[in-house]
Amino acid sequence: MTDRYAVVGNPIAHSKSPLIHAEFARQTGQDMAYIALLAPLEDFAGTVKKFQAEGGKGLNVTVPFKLEAFGLLGPGDTLSERAHFAQAVNTIKFEEGGRLYADNTDGVGFVRDVTQNLRHSITDKRVLLMGAGGAARGVVLPILMEKPSQLVIANRTMSKAIELAGTTKKYGHVLASDYEQLAGRQFDIVINATSSSLSDALPPLPQSVFAPGALAYDMMYGKGLTPFLLFAQANGAEHLADGLGMLVEQAAE
Ligand code: ATR
Repeated sequence: MTDRYAVVGNPIAHSKSPLIHAEFARQTGQDMAYIALLAPLEDFAGTVKKFQAEGGKGLNVTVPFKLEAFGLLGPGDTLSERAHFAQAVNTIKFEEGGRLYADNTDGVGFVRDVTQNLRHSITDKRVLLMGAGGAARGVVLPILMEKPSQLVIANRTMSKAIELAGTTKKYGHVLASDYEQLAGRQFDIVINATSSSLSDALPPLPQSVFAPGALAYDMMYGKGLTPFLLFAQANGAEHLADGLGMLVEQAAE
């Protein structure tokens, strides 16, 4: 019997997940069908239930449902620690008795792309993470696990950066900042986890933020050189990357 999976989101037609997972299935010899599933904005839960009832084995969850997927879990379901920390779920496995196992592989996907594909160690490096929304929260814990020398979270609305940094105490030291306070500081890895690239905007970064040899990483993919990557290129970042590698690695995980 062919195992049935899907990625659920809204919109979803553009998703590369069916392509990526079909390729993994081919390489690992799995008999699998993986589709893109559009959920109405007001009925994510119903869409998941229906797919489960029809015999689906699991789902990936994408924008804008990752937080709602986290909220789907009830007593008897299992949540991984990293999904618990992220308060967001991108992977659901349907287990015996209709129970859910929920995980978040985004952060590991990011770390693997940086450390293995791009060959940039995070250990002992100064890391700047821009943004304090869901995308940023998903990568904080896996970045801390790599033991950077500093992790600074910068956000336009500083209260949100403070709140996110405050949730990490158990795992390591994280500093919250606004963009002005970054003046005079340099980082080895600068990550754009804001949604600014969606609207071709640029977070208000000081020009001097890139240390010699710095990596600039935009989690957005498929947009070519975003305003952030162009800014990084013009201001001394030596390496530029978009989020395609992260997408492939979260899928692999
Ligand atoms: P996501 O799930 O993609 O993280 P989100 O939770 O809506 O989306 O968060 C969007 C993030 O991008 C926020 O950190 C937001 O900053 P604010 O909290 O100050 O709103 C950030 N953001 C969006 N557009 C931005 C821009 N043009 N410059 C800087 N930050 C931006």
